[in-house]
Amino acid sequence: MRLAILLSGRGSNFQAIHEAIHETVQGGTLDAEIALVLSNRPDAQGIQRAREYGYDAHVIDHKTFANRAAHEEEVLRRLDAAHPDFIVLAGYMRLLSPSFVERWRNRILNIHPSLLPAFPGVDAQAQAVAYGVKVSGCTVHFVDEHLDAGPIIVQRTVPVHEDDDASTLAARILEQEHAAYVEALRKLARGYRIEGRRVVLSPPSS
Ligand code: GRF
Repeated sequence: MRLAILLSGRGSNFQAIHEAIHETVQGGTLDAEIALVLSNRPDAQGIQRAREYGYDAHVIDHKTFANRAAHEEEVLRRLDAAHPDFIVLAGYMRLLSPSFVERWRNRILNIHPSLLPAFPGVDAQAQAVAYGVKVSGCTVHFVDEHLDAGPIIVQRTVPVHEDDDASTLAARILEQEHAAYVEALRKLARGYRIEGRRVVLSPPSS
């Protein structure tokens, strides 16, 4: 399973996937290869790490392109050349155009720090605290044309405590994000089909 990672910042989800591939973690290693890492931001911590690990890692800085379409065209060119099975959005802070989504339909994954469909968009953890929910979590889903809306692959829950603020909740959720992304990739590798909005995962072979 060849993966292309798109990120814009810290890159802790990318790191979790890297570790699952290269080390034995709980539940066994992840049988995958990171073929490409792209960042739209030159200062992203994640892209520095990717270079240290020796990955094919590139900055495609959106600020250096005339418009959104031109930037995306360059991203697509790199992706096409890497032949990934899945494009993994790991804190990638750019919206993808409908034609990008169509080109890679049901092969783009995203992780969002809430139990979708609750709290899409920015500051999901702050939204959860403000709303007063008692449980939150994270969602790994396929990307469609709408924000944080595609078919759900894996969700993990965490409790929300009385004294939580957005940052304490975010830290608790992030720990589950790292496990959830690896879990989702492992499950997809075993096979899946999509029925309407439902992702039907193949059971593990015994
Ligand atoms: C995560 O909270 C993820 O859910 C959201 O962006 C953050 C990325 O964190 N989409 P990192 O860059 O993987 O550390």
